[in-house]
Amino acid sequence: MPEVKVYRSGALIARSESAPGVTILKHLSDAGIFLDAPCGGRGRCGKCLVRLSPDGAETRACQTSITGDMDVYIPGEMEMEIAGDDAAAKGATVAADEPLGVAVDIGTTTVVAHLTSLRTGIRAATASGVNAQRPYGADVISRIQYCASNGHEQLTALIRGQLRDLITRACADAGADPRGIEYISIAGNTIMEHLAAGLSPVGMGVAPFRPLSLFGDETPVWDDLGVAHGATVYFAPAISSYVGGDITAGMLSAGLEDTEGPCVYIDIGTNGEIAMKLGERYLCCATAAGPAFEGAEISMGMAAVPGAVNHVVWEDGAVKYTTIGGAPAEGLCGSGLLDALALLVRQGAVDETGRLLPREETSGAISEYLESRDGKNIFRLARGCKVYMDYADVRKLQLAKSAIAAGIQTLLTHAGIDEGGVRAFVLAGGFGSFMDKDSAAAIGLFPKIFLPATRAVGNTAGEGAALALRSAEARATLGAMRERCEYIELSTSSVFNEQFVEQMMF
Ligand code: FES
Repeated sequence: MPEVKVYRSGALIARSESAPGVTILKHLSDAGIFLDAPCGGRGRCGKCLVRLSPDGAETRACQTSITGDMDVYIPGEMEMEIAGDDAAAKGATVAADEPLGVAVDIGTTTVVAHLTSLRTGIRAATASGVNAQRPYGADVISRIQYCASNGHEQLTALIRGQLRDLITRACADAGADPRGIEYISIAGNTIMEHLAAGLSPVGMGVAPFRPLSLFGDETPVWDDLGVAHGATVYFAPAISSYVGGDITAGMLSAGLEDTEGPCVYIDIGTNGEIAMKLGERYLCCATAAGPAFEGAEISMGMAAVPGAVNHVVWEDGAVKYTTIGGAPAEGLCGSGLLDALALLVRQGAVDETGRLLPREETSGAISEYLESRDGKNIFRLARGCKVYMDYADVRKLQLAKSAIAAGIQTLLTHAGIDEGGVRAFVLAGGFGSFMDKDSAAAIGLFPKIFLPATRAVGNTAGEGAALALRSAEARATLGAMRERCEYIELSTSSVFNEQFVEQMMF
């Protein structure tokens, strides 16, 4: 059997045998080594790059098979991603006889678990990490496709193993015994909830996009989680395949039940889930915005890790930017991409149809930042800086913003109200918190008239799971919200199709 040695930052980190013919990506994943693979190994994103010698050319790990003994050099920044995201925050030490619960937010990208006293509601410790399924794709579609070819069991085992690890870490931090955990409340999108519950998500990947469950009920926890015997697990109720328990839990914790509306709630990730509160009623929809705002499938896109450009502004006639951690610029994360695009639109370097103009067609100082590279127009952040955006990146972001903006307009049309009638605009999720609201409005991600009513609420799914953890009333409210919610399917909506074309314009 071939032997594979894996190096990171020059150091040997793993050495193991591999069956011949297996891809490097699969080998690394089996060995528990994280390599970013946004397209799930389909050879499309070009992000799973490794080298086979220290100075050799980069090759895609998902497209390179192991044929004999091999040295594999993986990039160092993924180490930082795990280090940056893996966190355990200690709250209070709990008494030995304290009844405990865990509120869990299973995101497609990260997983967060809060160990909580069921008696006092005090959060004893929090543990988090990059979702262990990440090597099987950055978005839910890639994960579903993996399950369609290979079954869902491996992804179920990965998330369950990760939950066990997070619970163990949180308990160690709080000095608690995991066997004291009696209740687990989980909020995730419908695909993540299926995989954690041991259900196949494959039916949600093909028309008519049917989930096996919409959850919202309590069941006995699975065997190997290491918690109290007979403990209960609750999954927040989903509304459809693409509007999940993370959204209902998020709406609850953002206080939508207490508002009369009209109020628009939006969570932008690889999908854009949008809900509207109107009196007692909810309308909701999901748009396939694609992973562009997460930096996937963008030339220099990357996760929000050290070295990612996170803010770009035009100041004193020049481009200024910052990076996460102040590290040298390596690429652009979602908020940086949004700012860069807004800057190009404001400076007239992207026209209203979304064309990135060549230097000759622009005037003023912005033209200094425009170049031709292999015959394609690009915008470079600074002379000598390796980070740029090209015309195709602009197009992908344009499609993503149009999908979100058209989703908002479709809900407004169904509700029979105009943009000015919206009293509150709630931005949920990490991206909603970090992005510059003016940049988002400048590219038309949402109407400018929403700006004064905009409120970023952060990752609300975990907070909603925490509410459901301790309160039967909160769980009943979540169920009632689902009953009062009308789901609007956008793929067959003529309003959405018309708006999608209209909202493409800058
Ligand atoms: S190209 Fe290999 S994971 Fe996307």
